[in-house]
Amino acid sequence: MKNLKVGRFGSVVLTLLIVYAIIKWLIPAVSRQITGLPFPLTVPGTLVFIYMLLTIVALFMYVTFSDESIAEFKAPVTRFLRGEYGILPRNAVLVIVPLLVGWQVYDTMAPQLELPASLRIQHPSSNFPGEFETLENPLANPSPAEVAAFIQQASSGQPALIPQLMPDMEAWLSENPDLPWLAAIATAPVKRFLDELESGNVDNANARTALLEKRLFEGRALYAMNCRPCHGDSAGGDGPIADGLKLRPIDFTDIGTIETVVEGYTFWRVSTGGQALPLEATPWDSGMPEWQLNLTEKERWMIILAEYDLAEKTPRIPESH
Ligand code: HEC
Repeated sequence: MKNLKVGRFGSVVLTLLIVYAIIKWLIPAVSRQITGLPFPLTVPGTLVFIYMLLTIVALFMYVTFSDESIAEFKAPVTRFLRGEYGILPRNAVLVIVPLLVGWQVYDTMAPQLELPASLRIQHPSSNFPGEFETLENPLANPSPAEVAAFIQQASSGQPALIPQLMPDMEAWLSENPDLPWLAAIATAPVKRFLDELESGNVDNANARTALLEKRLFEGRALYAMNCRPCHGDSAGGDGPIADGLKLRPIDFTDIGTIETVVEGYTFWRVSTGGQALPLEATPWDSGMPEWQLNLTEKERWMIILAEYDLAEKTPRIPESH
């Protein structure tokens, strides 16, 4: 037999090395060819473990097949231990192997510094600025003057939307040249308001509801652009990159989150992000960005309006009310 040249022991060691090399380098290299991706797809650790275990089981059967094969497998080991391949290599192996095993045991048994999960306070108040406590969302209650201005805007041909939405609005208008711009927001209250506008008989309360719809529409768009990657389409904290964060983005539909705090608190959290969190809230660093750097105050309030609406929650009412 060919493998007799390396002996049973040698062929066991060789097989292990070859199988490991196939899993570690060949499969990823072939996967790169097949998928055409610019990077190889590595084999997951658990799969490597299973493949190696199967290989070891097969080799075990190969070695224990008969008494002769066991003896053949053991022979080089015995000769090595007797020092027939040299005293120095034997002594070196006899020192290094126990040291490696000892290190491995120490590494797994040594106590690790890990903070218990309960230490994190989700809504810390130690450095929450008092003046935010009674803040109200300036967009939630349109004044009569704002409603009047909105009716004006709606009847003019000029779309009055946040700049981020204008390219989409222009594309929509070129596809629907006969419709008023507000019809792009296809909800029942907006439709009712547009009907009233056409008949020249506008009810202020309906106009107010339509204005709120428009603000929600803008807020949702800003939410999708800025918050969705982490907090998810439906505010469930399950956006596409949520799994990549150790401290998960908050699920706003959970009753213990934005519903238990006043609006001013949510505004403060959105504005200052993970940066402003005091020590009691940071056993892990928060990936929540500091939005006051990238969004105007009005944009932040628009998003908060949409955020509560998406999560179907209302903020806590400040104590003074
Ligand atoms: C990079 C991911 C990421 C993005 C993008 C992101 N967040 Fe967060 N957010 C987090 C994480 C992680 C937490 C939890 C840790 C914390 O409280 O800071 C969080 C927490 C929050 C909280 C605190 C909720 C509570 O009950 O304490 C609010 C409010 C919030 N985010 C709003 C937003 C808004 C609004 C946007 C978009 C303008 C946004 N987030 C974008 C990651 C993100």
